[in-house]
Amino acid sequence: MTNSIRKILVTSALPYANGQIHLGHLLEYIQTDIWVRFQRHRGNQCFFVCADDAHGTPIMLKAEEEGISPQDLIDRVQIEHTRDFDNFLVSFDNYYSTHSPENRHFSELIYNRLNAKGHINRRTITQLYDPEKHMFLPDRFVKSTCPTCQSDDQYGDNCEVCGSTYSPTDLIDPKSAISGATPEERESEQLFFKLGDFREFLEEWLDQGHTQKEIANKQKELFKEELFEWDISRNAPYWGFEIPGEKNKYFYVWMDAPIGYLASFQNLCEREGLDFNEFMNKDSECELYHFIGKDIARFHTLFWPAQLHGADFRTPNGVWAHGFLTVNGQKMSKSRGTFIMAQTYMNHLNPEYLRYYFAAKLDNSIEDLDLSLEDFQARVNSDLVGKLVNIASRCAGFITKVFDGKLGNQLADETMYEQFVTTGETIAHSYENRRFSKAMRDIIALADQANQYIDASKPWVLVKDDKTRPQVLDICTQGLNLFRLLMIYLKPVLPVTAENAENFLNIDPLCWEDISTPLLDHSINRFKPLLTRIEEKQLQAMIEETKETADANPKPESGPLIEDPISGEINIDDFFKVDLRVAKILEAGHVEGADKLLQFTLDIGGETRNIFSGIKSAYDPETLVGRLTVMVANLAPRKMKFGISEGMILCAGSGDKEIYLLEPDSGAKPGMRIT
Ligand code: MSP
Ligand code: ZN
Repeated sequence: MTNSIRKILVTSALPYANGQIHLGHLLEYIQTDIWVRFQRHRGNQCFFVCADDAHGTPIMLKAEEEGISPQDLIDRVQIEHTRDFDNFLVSFDNYYSTHSPENRHFSELIYNRLNAKGHINRRTITQLYDPEKHMFLPDRFVKSTCPTCQSDDQYGDNCEVCGSTYSPTDLIDPKSAISGATPEERESEQLFFKLGDFREFLEEWLDQGHTQKEIANKQKELFKEELFEWDISRNAPYWGFEIPGEKNKYFYVWMDAPIGYLASFQNLCEREGLDFNEFMNKDSECELYHFIGKDIARFHTLFWPAQLHGADFRTPNGVWAHGFLTVNGQKMSKSRGTFIMAQTYMNHLNPEYLRYYFAAKLDNSIEDLDLSLEDFQARVNSDLVGKLVNIASRCAGFITKVFDGKLGNQLADETMYEQFVTTGETIAHSYENRRFSKAMRDIIALADQANQYIDASKPWVLVKDDKTRPQVLDICTQGLNLFRLLMIYLKPVLPVTAENAENFLNIDPLCWEDISTPLLDHSINRFKPLLTRIEEKQLQAMIEETKETADANPKPESGPLIEDPISGEINIDDFFKVDLRVAKILEAGHVEGADKLLQFTLDIGGETRNIFSGIKSAYDPETLVGRLTVMVANLAPRKMKFGISEGMILCAGSGDKEIYLLEPDSGAKPGMRIT
């Protein structure tokens, strides 16, 4: 056990206040919560704060669309978010909002300190302006025809059909996504944070293991660009905090969002009489950790440490990124019923199942993680119901019926108990290093061992004979003590089941150090089933409900509107995210009213896909039937004028007449992955 009590402040990323919490978000909040609960369980002082990320253009526009004020929107969403986090047992000490007096205070303070030290620059830049809406347009709010492939309705930063990146002014005939007006180019002065001033500091910080290696290396690529500056201001109208000393200028949402961590903690400190400075001063000995998704790493491993350092605050000990959640091997999708909201899940299943499943799959890497619903069901039923709870249910009955509900005063096998205690250190080590999957594997291996012990001891046989009956007491006392140890190890993951087990065992709340003293000569309560099996129909009902809510809300699927300045280069992880498959063309035909598109039915190994592809100028569809080609199988389904396209066919060439369908060598079969 650790000797001295650590003081730790932990955060999860702040969810945007314009949408509901879904299972992808929950991966992060559950990961963080398990780590936090583990720290508290070990006797450390650990505070866990979060907040809604309440500022920015998307929130302003969403409120407008609903005909309410931004304040009303963020108030409502905060209630929904809090409900979801409570349901999934996420144990925040404070859940606040970035639209708070504390956040205004710290945002101004940090900005003023950076400005006073000369880290803020002013420059005039050209941006697109909506003359009807009277506002500057972020890239994502400009839409039109892609300059490369001529697909309609593409965002101003990149094309979802051909993947090319460009700036909004390159679009053919760009239009404001808000008003439909043709945007004008307008100049305005903006404020920039001079990240280049922190180059040496950041290089060192990134080399010190404060974040995963892959993340650190990715950030360092940016150092190749000489004086990197980050635009931190936005022109009115904008929903956020006004920049002190400026007229009609607001902090860009990503400037004040991480500062929201400090604001939420400060708010907690005021309420609980804690010392903010002890945690945040430059020379603080407390620990600070941020858990985030890998999509927002740049904000947390470059901008944020530089903001903190430049404004004389301490920097984080760890910024731990996780990968993205996929469901059944694919990106979450509304049409497939796998874009599952926290609330929808709650209508059908126990939240602790998801906590366990995520724990069983999470480690300290940035790899994506798949929730396969079949595997989820099998794993929960086998590990939790079949193995863990089974230990208790097999022993409890004898204690209650034969021994008056009282445990014996000795263990049948002390060596085995000691071995379970020793494995506890390995398990703790895995939790500490965020290798939860390893911890779960070790715990379930112990559960297997406990069940084997009961199988081999056969209490149900021994109980029938007066001479051997006393042994049954020792065996069941052993079994229930092993069960108690496993519940101690699983408590960070399954807090409610642990509490129910405590009630059953008739004991005070368990903490980690209780492992060293077995429970003997002690009256327990009657056993009630602690967890029940997942039934196939519960999963089906959840998928159905997800599909229904998706239909009721037929807006185009746009991801979180993050203005992320990450460059066009991708790493190997990004590449592996693309699911390339050999496809057989079953049908190909013309599309009425379309001058560029052909429609295809493709077989990718037992599954067929409907695809539109702009290759009409180069091929007569009849000549393509029966041929093999290559397609991107995990592209989010795209709603086009003529129907939904479920993927993309790959061609070489620049388009128009120069189009060459890719074809694998003979022998390839439909559905084969391209690696
Ligand atoms: N508001 C910003 C974070 C500001 S932190 C100062 C934001 N919000 S978000 O709502 O889009 O995402 C919140 C967190 O959830 C992020 O860490 C993000 O990576 C994570 N996830 C959102 N969708 C996810 C998956 N599908 N899978 C895993 N994590 C996901 O970003
Ligand atoms: Zn394009």
